[in-house]
Amino acid sequence: MSEQLNIFAQTAADAAPAASQPEEPPAAAASDPAAQMAQMERAAADCTKCGLARTRTQVVWGTGPVPARVVFIGEAPGRREDAGGEPFIGAAGKILDELLERAHIRRADIYITNIVKCRPPENRDPADSEIVACRDYLNAQLRLLRPRVIVTLGAFATRLILQTGAGISGLQGRVFETHGLQVLPLYHPAATIYDSNKRDPLFAAAPLLDRLANGDGAPCTTPTAGVAPAAPTAAATQPAPVGQEDS
Ligand code: URA
Repeated sequence: MSEQLNIFAQTAADAAPAASQPEEPPAAAASDPAAQMAQMERAAADCTKCGLARTRTQVVWGTGPVPARVVFIGEAPGRREDAGGEPFIGAAGKILDELLERAHIRRADIYITNIVKCRPPENRDPADSEIVACRDYLNAQLRLLRPRVIVTLGAFATRLILQTGAGISGLQGRVFETHGLQVLPLYHPAATIYDSNKRDPLFAAAPLLDRLANGDGAPCTTPTAGVAPAAPTAAATQPAPVGQEDS
């Protein structure tokens, strides 16, 4: 994972914003995270940091309360999301809704976003350069959201948040702790559409998700030392390209 892909520059709930962060929450309404989030979303609407700006219909920023105890992070908007401006409102969103229902979670209580805010043409995988271009937006969102639990949907989000080169299949459904957060990697809901073998493991994680989100303590936490590479800061020095892998 390259230095640029280190998402945890300033994500821990108790970290003070660093002056060098390029996507500082705006000074206006500094005491109101929701207002800051709205201001950042407006500023990002004209983003031209990567080539996806030429093909997108709109930036799909994210939805949900600010701050939010639980944040779901997917890969990138698809066709429906690009048209509608909200994450996970298409076929993958229906599967996510089923998962949420099984975990007794209301969409209104969680924040949902993606590591890349604009639709890649034909729903191709996001390129490293696009993930890097969008990374500061996610980082800034997380600083405002101050989550205690992050659910990563699919290989790309998992790799970015856990700073790991490990495959999603070995991580899905296990809880990891990093930077004071609990992270639950899950298969991407869309992956269960074309690979039915992923459907049962995804939904089997619902009780765990329920416990994490609705909170009666921290279940079976695995330190990130169990993931390869070991820790975000160490991982930042080890280049591990965001390459092709199952989601
Ligand atoms: N897939 C994603 O990763 N994100 C969305 O918002 C929709 C589909």
